[in-house]
Amino acid sequence: MCGIVGVIGTVNTKEMLIDGLKKLEYRGYDSAGVFINGNQGSHLVKEVGKIAKLEDAISNEVGGTMGIGHTRWATHGKPTVENAHPHFSSDERFYLVHNGVITNYEQLKETYLSGIEFASQTDTEVVVQLVSYFANQGMTTLEAFKQTISLLEGSYAFALADKENPEQIFVAKNKSPLLLGIGEDFNALCSDAMAMINYTNQFVELHDGEIVILEADNYEIYDQSGVAIERSPYEVDLDPKEISKGTYDYYMLKEIDEQPGVIRRISEFYLSDEQVNLDEDLLNKMATAKQIYIVAAGTSYHAGLVGKRIIEELTDIPVNVELASEFGYHLPKLIDESFFIFLSQSGETADSRQVLVKINEMNLPSLTVTNVKDSTLWREATYQMQLLAGPEIAVASTKAYVAQIAVQAVIAKVLGDHLNNATAKQLDLREELSLAANGIQAIVDQKDDIEKLSYEFFTNQNHAFYIGRGMDYALCLEAALKLKEISYIHTEGFAAGELKHGTISLIEDKTPVIAYLNDQNTTGLTRGNIEEVQARGAHVLVISNQDDAQSDDQIVCFTINELLQPLISVVPAQLLAYYASLQRGNDVDQPRSLAKSVTVE
Ligand code: F6R
Repeated sequence: MCGIVGVIGTVNTKEMLIDGLKKLEYRGYDSAGVFINGNQGSHLVKEVGKIAKLEDAISNEVGGTMGIGHTRWATHGKPTVENAHPHFSSDERFYLVHNGVITNYEQLKETYLSGIEFASQTDTEVVVQLVSYFANQGMTTLEAFKQTISLLEGSYAFALADKENPEQIFVAKNKSPLLLGIGEDFNALCSDAMAMINYTNQFVELHDGEIVILEADNYEIYDQSGVAIERSPYEVDLDPKEISKGTYDYYMLKEIDEQPGVIRRISEFYLSDEQVNLDEDLLNKMATAKQIYIVAAGTSYHAGLVGKRIIEELTDIPVNVELASEFGYHLPKLIDESFFIFLSQSGETADSRQVLVKINEMNLPSLTVTNVKDSTLWREATYQMQLLAGPEIAVASTKAYVAQIAVQAVIAKVLGDHLNNATAKQLDLREELSLAANGIQAIVDQKDDIEKLSYEFFTNQNHAFYIGRGMDYALCLEAALKLKEISYIHTEGFAAGELKHGTISLIEDKTPVIAYLNDQNTTGLTRGNIEEVQARGAHVLVISNQDDAQSDDQIVCFTINELLQPLISVVPAQLLAYYASLQRGNDVDQPRSLAKSVTVE
């Protein structure tokens, strides 16, 4: 989703902006632009497509002591140069980049800006025209910015430049993520720390409703009522090497390969020999819960479906898994002993965040499990746990999914032990996670075979199905999402027994059906469902495990404790999706229309 950078100081602003925008590419975007200002004049450059194109379009003469940049993921208006940010006022004095959505922009346009000719179809342009409107009435830039913000409804992270004042950048935040980066010869702003980590590891968080005046050697933060806030930087522990692709063509394959290491890291961190590394307060609070809700979106929601089964088995506490975008607006009756787990790779998903805001208003306890320390969901929850997956750059989530299952297993095991649950006591989680890491390794070592299967099954196919029962059904939902989001093959994850209640009519000659067979109670039934689709011409690929395998199953995973089997069994689906996308010539890491960090509802 949209990304913002801004830099002010005695540095190579242009280089830092472009580098920062490249680091934000992973979030997903369709156009980009920069505005650079300084003694040698000001420059606005915008392009549709990749940052490399923008870089080529910026001539060598362009330079300055301040600049703002943006990657746009279209919400209002098509991806065109006109709609790309920065947007500017008609008098070409003010330039603005924006992440978020202003919901009352049409109303504001009508009320204040009826005489203005607009260059774009965006909500953002209304904001920058309003700043200019109020400045033309005699307000200072800061006053005009504040006045504009007081009229806005919706979400925003803004960086505003005034061409007549290259000494300051005006910044505001509400609901959309934004950080300040503090350097030796500069100060910066960015949507996430990754954008500036090559230049500084000192960052300042911003809260909703705050406005900042950013200068080369100073930053002033004001709250909604204009009161100055003192806030010191914190150190971000992110190794720039971790965000490099190394020898891989795509981050996705690198991240798939990293999964055994992620599982081992989680086990070592949370379940080391000496002690269990879980907050005592968190444990006590969860032990009193009578109902746990897991709230998430997309892949994280699918990881929650697996987590539900693990937590219920090991703790006996009932768990509901909820789609954040639905749950927040249709809250059920909640009992006081409810406990909320927010699962989110990015920690910034707006759908999940709106639920957390409501939960906080009700004073209910929450835990955010995320890959990004200090992200919004991290900061705003009662308790926090890190996924420890390392930065995930490819839009299609892989290692964060397995990390989410592993961390939920840690929570379930520790809580279950605390509650004296017999199943928890019997589970040697360290051992199982170690087996899982080995099992994942065994699958990634077979990638050449899986590549061939991917070509055999998906070449020239536009529809596919994953089928399974129980935990395998949860796995099917994730496997189907992986395949469809990067290959654009329409794929459904289906409960194997449900197919015959309507959907089986879609099975035609050679329709790929991938069946998961790990659920020991229903193996025979699912084998029966395989026969049914084969009888209708389906091309069936079976992913099973050593205990349940038959001789002609194409992919056989190591068997581990049934509750943790998805950790291994998801990996063939990730690889099948990767190679299907590659074969179609798609941009595997940045599939069309998708964003890594979904910061609008
Ligand atoms: C799919 C994918 C998305 C995310 C979803 C939630 O591969 O990555 O479905 O899982 O957008 O994002 P987070 O986990 O950051 O809250």
